[in-house]
Amino acid sequence: MGSLLSIADIKDNVTCILDLASKIKAGEMEEKPLEGKTLAMIFQKSSTRTRISFDVGMYQLGGRAIFLSSNDLQMGRGEPISDTAKVLSRFVDGIMIRAIKHSDVEELAEHSDVPVISGLTDLEHPCQALADMLTIKEHLGDWKGKKICFVGDGNNVCNSLLLIAPLLGMDMSVACPKGYEPADKILKIAQEYADENDTQIIISDDIGVALENVDVVYTDVWVSMGDEAEAKQREIDLAPFQVNSDLMSIANDGAIFMHCLPAIRGQEVTGEVIDGPQSVIYDEAENRLHAQKAVLYYFMKD
Ligand code: CP
Ligand code: NVA
Repeated sequence: MGSLLSIADIKDNVTCILDLASKIKAGEMEEKPLEGKTLAMIFQKSSTRTRISFDVGMYQLGGRAIFLSSNDLQMGRGEPISDTAKVLSRFVDGIMIRAIKHSDVEELAEHSDVPVISGLTDLEHPCQALADMLTIKEHLGDWKGKKICFVGDGNNVCNSLLLIAPLLGMDMSVACPKGYEPADKILKIAQEYADENDTQIIISDDIGVALENVDVVYTDVWVSMGDEAEAKQREIDLAPFQVNSDLMSIANDGAIFMHCLPAIRGQEVTGEVIDGPQSVIYDEAENRLHAQKAVLYYFMKD
């Protein structure tokens, strides 16, 4: 039994999980492999895609999911995370959690007897990165030798992409203003993976440098859940990093545009780009379902 809190947890199995996701998407999967299994889904933050895709995914695999808002759980009234983990482990076969603090998910996993899957924390969004890589392979044919540029705030989504890209042979650049760089501890691990796989990682506040020879342009909101108090300053600092047609023209011809969603048109991306011909956002959202079914199978099948 293992847990998926970070892409680092599946370092040696990323390709295997993504191959399984492609097979599941193609309908090549046994009937109801998770029959009789239950997934508890704890949400400390809002969600559309994560909640629905995990719920539908469990149903399609023959199991069921229980939605648990942290406001309704005793955890929201101060019950220790360790007790919550131990009690849930007596009832369910897996726990999916979207949490405010990554350290809380680590604590939950430490005390759980069943697999814990992160559905986003302040540090990472591993299931999103898996769905993104499935989407990239479908649109570009392969990962090897391709380059992805994340533009904007070096946030949780950016962190998971930084870890997964080198593992699949992709170069990655991050175009961000000073002070919005990805987490140091993530960059350190990502650089190790890049060295092992002979790929490049570039962090730059120069958009022209970061977007050189890029096949995928990726962005996310400037104000992530939990960052609301800094909204005004972030909008000022990140404005030069808006993904618009001028910025897209620096990327390679045929480059695709990606966004994990939800998006704010007119802030991190213009409507022209996100609703334009290079955008693959809805394939990316759909692939959450296929990638997570592979994750559920991988972690919860006997
Ligand atoms: N991309 C993503 O995780 O979306 P939700 O916040 O709607 O789950
Ligand atoms: N970075 C965003 C992603 C939402 C799916 C956030 O954390 O709010």
